[in-house]
Amino acid sequence: MSRRWLAILGGLSAAAALGLAGLATSQAPLPAHPSSAVTPVGFLTQPIADNAPNADQLRRGQYLVRAGDCVSCHMRDGGEPLAGGLGLRTPFGVIYSPNITSDRDTGIGTWTADQFHRAMHDGLDDQGENLYPAFPYPWFRKASRADDDAIFAYLHTTPPVHYTPPSNRLPFPLNIRFIVKGWNLLFLKSTDFAPDPGQSAEWNRGAYLVDGLGHCGGCHTPKNLFGADKSGKVFHGGTLDNWVAPDLTGNHHTGLGDWTADDIAEFLKTGRNAHAGAGGSMADVITYSTSLLSDQDRHAMAVYIKAQAASLDVRTGAPDADVMARGAAIYSDACASCHLENGVGQPRPFPPLGHNAMLQQSDPTGLLHLILAGSRIGTSPSRPSPLTMPSFAWKLTDQQTADVATYVRNSWGNQASTVWASSVRKLRHRLDLDTLRYTENSGDQR
Ligand code: HEC
Ligand code: HEC
Ligand code: HEC
Repeated sequence: MSRRWLAILGGLSAAAALGLAGLATSQAPLPAHPSSAVTPVGFLTQPIADNAPNADQLRRGQYLVRAGDCVSCHMRDGGEPLAGGLGLRTPFGVIYSPNITSDRDTGIGTWTADQFHRAMHDGLDDQGENLYPAFPYPWFRKASRADDDAIFAYLHTTPPVHYTPPSNRLPFPLNIRFIVKGWNLLFLKSTDFAPDPGQSAEWNRGAYLVDGLGHCGGCHTPKNLFGADKSGKVFHGGTLDNWVAPDLTGNHHTGLGDWTADDIAEFLKTGRNAHAGAGGSMADVITYSTSLLSDQDRHAMAVYIKAQAASLDVRTGAPDADVMARGAAIYSDACASCHLENGVGQPRPFPPLGHNAMLQQSDPTGLLHLILAGSRIGTSPSRPSPLTMPSFAWKLTDQQTADVATYVRNSWGNQASTVWASSVRKLRHRLDLDTLRYTENSGDQR
């Protein structure tokens, strides 16, 4: 392969990392901005007056902004919903979400409906420049023109917020937007959404939401070297932001084989059910998106997900007995107070750990992240109190963390590979937890 071609490929794979696969939020210091009186969820559910001539279209647009989880990305800590400024950290630099309020100078107040549709469908901004796939247009392009128009009409009624996010911090050549054209050519699927006449109306509605605005595959489908979906592996589970978005297929071991459609719908509504709790990046999806959808739509999404064929079941050998004994002692000491002996938990407040898909993923990163850094279940209107799992980074050594992880991955019906101390050490470093860090409910000062 020629040097030049290699350079282009290198650039492309780096561009790929700018997609969802490399997405992480940055806590870079940002200029303080007064936050508005309404909470983000209050904003997303604010009633729309009947006297607007297109009130129905506006209501639909507001609903679709929830379905697309726009607020999770287009809102920085303490900032107004949709005003942007959240830094999405990729291995190559930081991309800031733009202001998409109706402000004419700093938002999208001067955009036309055609320009907006082109952004959602083709990933181009109002000047025709390419947007990076950190903006989920590869999924959003399945939304219909009528739905894009409704979102656009709604966004135009949002209060203008005058705010310019910081400039992206990307090295050459990734700061050249043109490079994304190559990615689009190779990986952007040209197919618009087409209902499958062989399936029920409910299944088709679920497919439209899950594969379109919901962009669930953005996190739950593993990515190739270029950050595009691995073919034949839809919903087999992906790693991003040092979390694992688990397998959503019918696999009984790593996937949702043991969950009913109602279980999935309950999880999307409340962030918890008899099997699991939603932490990591799923917490925001619950809070700003799925908990604010209708029961019918959540059920439709569940029906579509439930219909996904199981991924291949990979079995691993039993771990070392010494490791299991050490892990059991740490579990009794550190974990059993909430998850109880035998990992039965207290379903909904404290997830049961037996037959738990999340902790049997082949990649233990999500489990280790949770143990090291702690996590919080996303709040929802029906379950408003945040439940927090404390951080153990300050309490357990790398070896102890690895041992307790191996233990829970291989107890009470679970089976998964042994976790090594070296993996814990690397993750601790990536999470910048080498220095002590405390979670709010650990009872210690930050
Ligand atoms: C996963 C994070 C994420 C989600 C979810 C998301 N966006 Fe974005 N969006 C971004 C990022 C990052 C950019 C900037 C990309 C760039 O700079 O190339 C962007 C860019 C845009 C732009 C282009 C604005 C401009 O000034 O160029 C529009 C319009 C937009 N998003 C609308 C939406 C809408 C509407 C939704 C919900 C339906 C949404 N986004 C959901 C991350 C997200
Ligand atoms: C103070 C109570 C408490 C203690 C102690 C605790 N946890 Fe948790 N744990 C929680 C809560 C609350 C959640 C739900 C939060 C979430 O999923 O983000 C949770 C979630 C989990 C999950 C995710 C389950 C799922 O389905 O998403 C795992 C795995 C887990 N804990 C393992 C452990 C291990 C291992 C220990 C000991 C090292 C431990 N926990 C100690 C409260 C606790
Ligand atoms: C921003 C990334 C992201 C997006 C987008 C996302 N998820 Fe998740 N999801 C995760 C992560 C990370 C977890 C693991 C949470 C944990 O460890 O507690 C998860 C967990 C889940 C689980 C529980 C799996 C289990 O075995 O415990 C379900 C079900 C789920 N997601 C469904 C969805 C659906 C449906 C969508 C689309 C509406 C979606 N997710 C979109 C990141 C994401």
